[in-house]
Amino acid sequence: MNDLLLKQSNNSAKIEVFATAQAASEAVADRILATVRSNPKAVLGLATGQTPRRVYAKLVDAVKNGQISFSEATTFNLDEYCGLSASHADSFAAYMQRELFAATDFDGDKINLIDGAAPDMHAEAKRYAQLLAASQIDLQLLGIGTNGHIGFNEPGSSSDSRVRIVELSEETLNANQPTLIELEEVPGKAITMGIADILGAREIIILATGAAKAEAMRRSIEDLPHAACPASYLSSHGNVHWFLDADSAALLSK
Ligand code: F6R
Repeated sequence: MNDLLLKQSNNSAKIEVFATAQAASEAVADRILATVRSNPKAVLGLATGQTPRRVYAKLVDAVKNGQISFSEATTFNLDEYCGLSASHADSFAAYMQRELFAATDFDGDKINLIDGAAPDMHAEAKRYAQLLAASQIDLQLLGIGTNGHIGFNEPGSSSDSRVRIVELSEETLNANQPTLIELEEVPGKAITMGIADILGAREIIILATGAAKAEAMRRSIEDLPHAACPASYLSSHGNVHWFLDADSAALLSK
């Protein structure tokens, strides 16, 4: 079965459209596995949310089947809600434990997460910024918000933004509401890597699935880089790989 419907590339971006979200997710997982096979010490930038869950499931399977070890890899997560500790079920730290870390052999000392419950969030943002500045992300995995956000860089974020505290937009609060486990409301603030941090990765892979992402995909890929759609900044990076399913690619003109 060939699930790849379309493959297109120009100087800086590769776009692959798959028949299903599962096929797109497996292709992303294969890209991560290939990166770590060729460089076991790879530094991975990781995302949370609904979209990468199938990717992480495949990475878990690969470890269980003895096909890979992540023990030497380093990870940096993109973002975290302000006010939630790693033990809170709705924190991104807890998500990472559930979806990936607990069932794989990532070394806890090489996992970098933002502490959403740090007593001083400005100091926490500074700590994370310094850690990132001392590292080089080899492969950054991204999802995308319906409003075009990457990480929690909401519309209006500048291309030179770095790790910082941000206010989440109404659209993001609504979009993330259904994923809450314990909370009744999505926390209004988060710490996120900035656009410049994301663009500093050697390679960026972005996974988008479902019709709700189709308009954000069209704006990200076809519009000129603009703060109104932060993912559009990715076109200024020399090595971006878009993995889409047919639904999220439905509004692309070609
Ligand atoms: C998550 C993140 C966000 C999500 C985006 C899409 O760490 O940084 O940018 O990637 O909100 O979320 P889902 O995948 O739930 O649609």
